[in-house]
Amino acid sequence: KQAESHILVIFGASGDLTKRKLIPALLELEKQNLLPDALAVLGVSRTNLSDREFRQRMTEFLGKNEDEKLVTKFLDRLFYQSISTSESYDYPVLKDRLLTIAKEKAIPENFIFYLSTPPQLYEIIPKNLASVDLNKSDDGFRRLIVEKPFGTDLNSAKELNKNLLNYFAENQIYRIDHYLGKESVQNLLVTRFSNGIFEPIWNHNFIHHVEITSAESLGVENRGGYYDHSGAMRDMVQNHLLQLVGMVAMEPPVVVEADAIRNEVLKVFQSLRPIKEEEVEKYVIRGQYIESHIKNELVKGYRQEEGVDPESRTETFLAMKFFIDNWRWAGVPFYIRTGKKLPTRVTEVVIHFKKTPHHLFGNQYNTEQTANQLVIRIQPDEGILLKFGMKVPGAGFRVQSVNMDFHYEDLADAQRLPAAYERLLLDCMQGDATLYSRGDAVEKAWEYVQPIMNAWQNNAEIPIYGYPAGTWGPDVADQLVEDGQWRYPCKN
Ligand code: BG6
Repeated sequence: KQAESHILVIFGASGDLTKRKLIPALLELEKQNLLPDALAVLGVSRTNLSDREFRQRMTEFLGKNEDEKLVTKFLDRLFYQSISTSESYDYPVLKDRLLTIAKEKAIPENFIFYLSTPPQLYEIIPKNLASVDLNKSDDGFRRLIVEKPFGTDLNSAKELNKNLLNYFAENQIYRIDHYLGKESVQNLLVTRFSNGIFEPIWNHNFIHHVEITSAESLGVENRGGYYDHSGAMRDMVQNHLLQLVGMVAMEPPVVVEADAIRNEVLKVFQSLRPIKEEEVEKYVIRGQYIESHIKNELVKGYRQEEGVDPESRTETFLAMKFFIDNWRWAGVPFYIRTGKKLPTRVTEVVIHFKKTPHHLFGNQYNTEQTANQLVIRIQPDEGILLKFGMKVPGAGFRVQSVNMDFHYEDLADAQRLPAAYERLLLDCMQGDATLYSRGDAVEKAWEYVQPIMNAWQNNAEIPIYGYPAGTWGPDVADQLVEDGQWRYPCKN
């Protein structure tokens, strides 16, 4: 499907996301000839810049070895308009500019508005756009892309949705969760629903438990100020990791269409067994990294990071156990683990299958009974690994676990994996919201995590465990996983 010609308006154009993600993603789409012929990108922010200066600035964020002709074609699409985004009196200026560009470049009046701004502006920009009728049109399309955070708790998320819906209809709103833009996350659907062998055993009869790990070796870097008001639950679990749970656990959608898929994700969220405030200690472990030595180098603790309260109780690590109360998943524990300053950067989903009912090669051959695991590596080294038992050659029947392993990098022609923002931007241009979060699911996810955050807020007795930077989090997290253990991706 070819995207229709339009103008993409980026609010917050002088910010980090524009430079680091959006502009490079757009250039990559240009390279692949996926952008519509008539496309203009209008950067908007308070800073005073001319079109030329804006283009100049953006050039610095393009790769060094890009084809010159292509870069010139791309830069010619960029324009810039300085306005006070929070002031409605500046919006007629914005509208004029849009109409002028549309006319000059023969672009139909199709507009996408990308809010890459601090979240405080999510209320005001849609309202201001509506004040000059830029939110709707009978002729062209109007779409609004919103970046996370979608609120900071259930109430603010509801408030935000309500406000957005005052000015834009749900089918005009594209809420970005960049995890859904990852190729390997989308492949979860294909693994499950295009293979005859997985789906029949993808349920409580055959699966013992499911584990999702998203580890980062970096700390909070220069985002301490933001992170200290957020923490792992808001930053990773409520959005990215629950979306992953949705993909792993959902029922087959009837068709591959936005609402069909998003309805199934919502149903998963509706089936999450609530964790009550008094149960939080039992099901959720939180931690915070403390100073340590990694390879003889002293690494700061979280509380020593810039912008972080020296007495902060914000969690940089979280491990939790939960259940999905529906037909497919009855009684199957799910585990999530995420954290900053862990030993490595890896995101993976591990399906742990049940062991065979009888351990035929047990005592006699002195082998432990192992279970099959399907490891879906989301990043890095994207791929799929199946572990199964094989006879050790030679006398007797000793069993050893071996791997069947697929790596994306082995694909013919070394096909590159598109960055999440490339896929998501292109989808929005094509009017496809499948990989964007829907308002009701976002609220449901908040509803689920809210009691846990409340318990932490209201009960100072719930511990936050320190873990030395560079380790796999507090040891107590191991006790969450009954009858098993976390997989440690560095080790095997
Ligand atoms: C962001 C979080 O949404 O996701 C960051 O705010 C986190 O704290 C990042 O580092 C992780 O994304 P990725 O794609 O590197 O796994």
